[in-house]
Amino acid sequence: MATVPGAPAVEHHREPFGIGERRPRLSWKVDAAPGWSQRGYELEIARDQAVPARLAVLSPDSVLVPWPFDDLRSREEVRVRVRVWGADDEPSAWSPSAPIEAGLLEPQDWQCVPVGPAWAEDPESDDRRPPLVRREFDIRGPVARARLYVTAHGLYEVEINGGRVGREAMAPGWTVYGARLEYETYDVAALLREGANAIGAWLGDGWYRGRLGWNGGFRNLYGSDVGLIAQLEIDTSEGVRGAPDGRWQAAPGPIVSAGNYDGEVYDAREERPGWSSPGFDDAGWTPVRVGTRDPSTLVAPTGPPVRCTGELRPRDVLRTPAGKQVLDFGQNLVGRVRIRVTGLPGATVTLSTAEVLQGGEIYTRPLREAKSTDVYVLGGRGVEEWEPRFTIHGFRYVQVDGWPGDLDVAASHGDVVARVYHTDMERTGWFECSDADVNRLHENVVWGMRGNFVDIPTDCPQRDERVGWTGDIQVFAPTATFLYDCSGMLDSWLRDVAIEQLPDGTVPWYVPVIPAHKMWTPIRPGAVWGDAAVLTPWTLYERFADPEILARQYASAKAWVDLVDRLAGEDHVWDEGFQLGDWLDPSAPVQEPARAMTDPYLVATAYFFRSATQLSRMAAVLGEHDDEAHYRALSDLVRDAFVRRFVDAPGHLSSDTQTAYALAIRFQLLPEDQVGAAGARLGELVEASGGRIATGFAGTPVVCDALCDAGEIARAYQLLLQRECPSWLYAVACGATTVWERWDALLPDLSVNPGTMTSFNHYALGAVADWMHRVVAGLAPASPGYRDVLFRPRPGGGITSASARHESPYGTVAISWRVADSGLVVDAAVPTGARGVLDLDGCEPVALPSGHHRATVRDGGVRLEERSRDNPRDDPR
Ligand code: BGC
Repeated sequence: MATVPGAPAVEHHREPFGIGERRPRLSWKVDAAPGWSQRGYELEIARDQAVPARLAVLSPDSVLVPWPFDDLRSREEVRVRVRVWGADDEPSAWSPSAPIEAGLLEPQDWQCVPVGPAWAEDPESDDRRPPLVRREFDIRGPVARARLYVTAHGLYEVEINGGRVGREAMAPGWTVYGARLEYETYDVAALLREGANAIGAWLGDGWYRGRLGWNGGFRNLYGSDVGLIAQLEIDTSEGVRGAPDGRWQAAPGPIVSAGNYDGEVYDAREERPGWSSPGFDDAGWTPVRVGTRDPSTLVAPTGPPVRCTGELRPRDVLRTPAGKQVLDFGQNLVGRVRIRVTGLPGATVTLSTAEVLQGGEIYTRPLREAKSTDVYVLGGRGVEEWEPRFTIHGFRYVQVDGWPGDLDVAASHGDVVARVYHTDMERTGWFECSDADVNRLHENVVWGMRGNFVDIPTDCPQRDERVGWTGDIQVFAPTATFLYDCSGMLDSWLRDVAIEQLPDGTVPWYVPVIPAHKMWTPIRPGAVWGDAAVLTPWTLYERFADPEILARQYASAKAWVDLVDRLAGEDHVWDEGFQLGDWLDPSAPVQEPARAMTDPYLVATAYFFRSATQLSRMAAVLGEHDDEAHYRALSDLVRDAFVRRFVDAPGHLSSDTQTAYALAIRFQLLPEDQVGAAGARLGELVEASGGRIATGFAGTPVVCDALCDAGEIARAYQLLLQRECPSWLYAVACGATTVWERWDALLPDLSVNPGTMTSFNHYALGAVADWMHRVVAGLAPASPGYRDVLFRPRPGGGITSASARHESPYGTVAISWRVADSGLVVDAAVPTGARGVLDLDGCEPVALPSGHHRATVRDGGVRLEERSRDNPRDDPR
C-alpha cells in the first residue's frame, strides 16, 4: 500500500485562491516505498452542500492530470483530495484536501470600473501626485464571507478600516495591460464589520503611466489615468451578497511623487490619519473620475505576486571621504529600504541607492537616468516608520543624508532595514560543491534571479531599463527553472510574448514592448532574442511537463521560425539585417557590445537550426505530425547550409572563436566525424586564452557543455575555475554578490567599467549554473518534469564533492558525490513516479528505480546499494 499522497497542487499556482482556470489540472506527490509505482488514482471533490463526487482513473500519471469534474464556476470554493494505488490495487489513505477557489471567470461578473482623481494633471510630468481614493459603506448584518477582487490602472495598495489588505507589492505587476490586466482576490472578511466601514487605496503611476525606458523614456504607455478597480463582495449571514454602495472620493496623498526608476518622495506631514477608516472627515476630498476598462481583459494571475521575501540589516556603516554616511548591506539586492526615524516635522531623510562604490563614494553613473533615491519628510510624531510603496531599487549601498541624530543600525534597533522584493516563487533548486568560490558564484546566480524575477523576467533591476529582454531569459530559463518554480510567472510572460509578436512573426526585443529610440524601433527580428518564442516554452515543458504551455505558445513559436525561414531564404543561411549576435563578448568595444568576434550570422543561423529542431519536437508532442516532419526537414536543410557556409575545413569554423565552436557542437550542427576536431579546436582556443572565457550572451550558456560533449571536460573546468578576467570567478574574486552584465563590470583596477552597459545584476552570464547542476553535480531531466532523471556527474577541476537537489513535479530528485579514498561515492534520490539512470564516467549506465541509492565506483565497476530513506545519514542532500 502506498504512503498517503500530498495535497493536490493546482495548475502552477502556489496558492490556488482566486484562480482563473475553469478546469484546473491537478498534481500530487507520493513518497512511497522504493520501487512502488502508481497504477491508478481517485480524485474527490467536495463542492456546495452536495455529496462529494469521486472519479477513479487507471493511470500512472500524477502531474497536471486533467480536471475530471464539472467546470468551476465564478467564486466557487471546492476541496479536492486524492488517493492512489499500486500493483496491489489497495488504495492509500486520502491525501489532505486542497482548497481551491475560483476568481471571477466571466466578464459580466465585473461591475466595477476604474476610479481615480479628477483633478487636472500634466501628462508629461514625472511628478503627478499619487492620489488616495476612499469610500465608506455600511454593512447590515454580520459578515459571513467577503472577497475583494482588485486591480488598477497604475499600482495600488488597498486598506480596509485602517488595515492593509494582503502583502503584495508592485501589484498588479506588468503585463500588456491593454490585453491582460491581472487582478488579485482577497478574503477580507476579517477586516470588515457590521455597520460603518471604509475602503481606501493608494495609487501610483507604475508601469501603466510612469516613465519607462532609456534615453528619457516614455510616459503614459497604457493610458494617462490612474484608477482603482475594486469589487468588494460581501455575504452577510442573511445570505445577501452585495457590492456595497457609496461614493468614491479622491485626494492627494502624502506621496509627493513615485516612479519605478526615480524612487519615491513622501511627506509625512501630509498624512491623513484615519483616511481608510469610517467617520473620517473628508472635507477637501473630491469626487472621482470614473474610467473604463473592458472586463474581458481582467485576468487572474497564473503565478505568485511580488512580495517581500527577506530582510537584511546593514553589515557596515561607512563614512566616505566626502563625509557621507553609507550603509553597506553586504549583498546586491532588489527591494527597498524601511526606516524608523524620530525627528522634527519637516526634517528630510534622503536615501540614495547604488550597487557599487568608487573612490569610496556611492557610484550612480551605471543607473543612467534612474535617480533611485527615496526621500522621507518627517511628520514629527515620535517614532515614524516608512518604506516606499511604488518603487523598487537594485542596490547594495545606501547613502543616508539628513538623518536626525545618530543612525542606529544595530540588530536590536533596526533604524534601517533592506527588504528584498521579487515574485514570491517557491525555491526548488540547490547546488553545492567543495569549492567555496564556485558556491559563491552559484549564490550570485540565485541572487541575480531573485532581483530580476519581479513579475516579469528583466535584464537588470537598477538602471533606466528593467525590461523583459527576450534573449536574457531565453538563455537563463534552464537555470531559473531549476532554482525556483517560475512556471506560473513565465507562463504569464510568454502569453505577452505572443500578444506583442508582430503579425509577420517578429518577436520583440523585450516584452512588454515599450517604444524606444533608434536601434530598437521599428522592431526588427534578431536571433537569440527572438528564439525565446520557441526555446523558452520548450524549457518550461522540459522542466515542468506542461504540454499546455507548448500548445498555447505553438502558433507564436511557429510564426517565429517561419519568419526566420523567409528571412534566410533559399540558402537557409540567416545573413541579413541587424543582429545582436554574441552580445557583450569580452572583445567587444566598451560602447559597442554587439561587435563581438563571432560572425553574428553564424550565431543567427545556428539559432535558426536550434529553433527549427525544437519546434519540430514541439509539434511531435502536440501531435502535429505534418509540422513535425516539415520542421525536421527544415532543420536538416539549415544544418547543411550552416556547414556549407561556416565550416571552412573539416571541424574548423569560419569564426575561429569559442562561441562559434560551442554553438556548433552543442546544437549538433556538425557531421559526427567533425565533432572531435571541432572540440579539439575549442579546447585549443580555451588553452590559448589561458583558460579565460571569450563568449558573450550566445556562447556563454553553451561553452562548458560543448567542451564536455566533445570530451574536453578539463577545459570546461578550467573556464569555470579561472579567476583572472574575464571569467566567472573573476567577479567573485572582486567581491561580486550577483552576476554582472559584462565580464569586466569592474576593471582589474577595481574601477567601474565606463560603458553604459554596466549592470552589476544581470542574470544572462549566470546561465552556466545550468551546466553546474547537470554536469558538475550531475542532475538533469531526461524526460519532461524529471519523470526520467539522468544522474551523470562529470567530476573535474580538483573539485572533490558536489551535490544538487531539486524539487521536481514528482518530488525531490537529488545527487551528491564525493571522491573518497576508496573511489567515487555517489548518492542519488529518485522520487516515486520517476525513474533514474546513473551514468558514471567509464561505467555502464545503471537504471535506478524510485528510492535512495548509493553507488561506489572502484576499478571501473559500480557497486550499488539501496539506502533507507528513513535514515537521515543516508540522505544524499
Ligand atoms: C540589456 C540586455 C539586453 C540587451 C540587448 C541591454 O540594454 O540590458 O540585457 O539583452 O540590451 O541589446
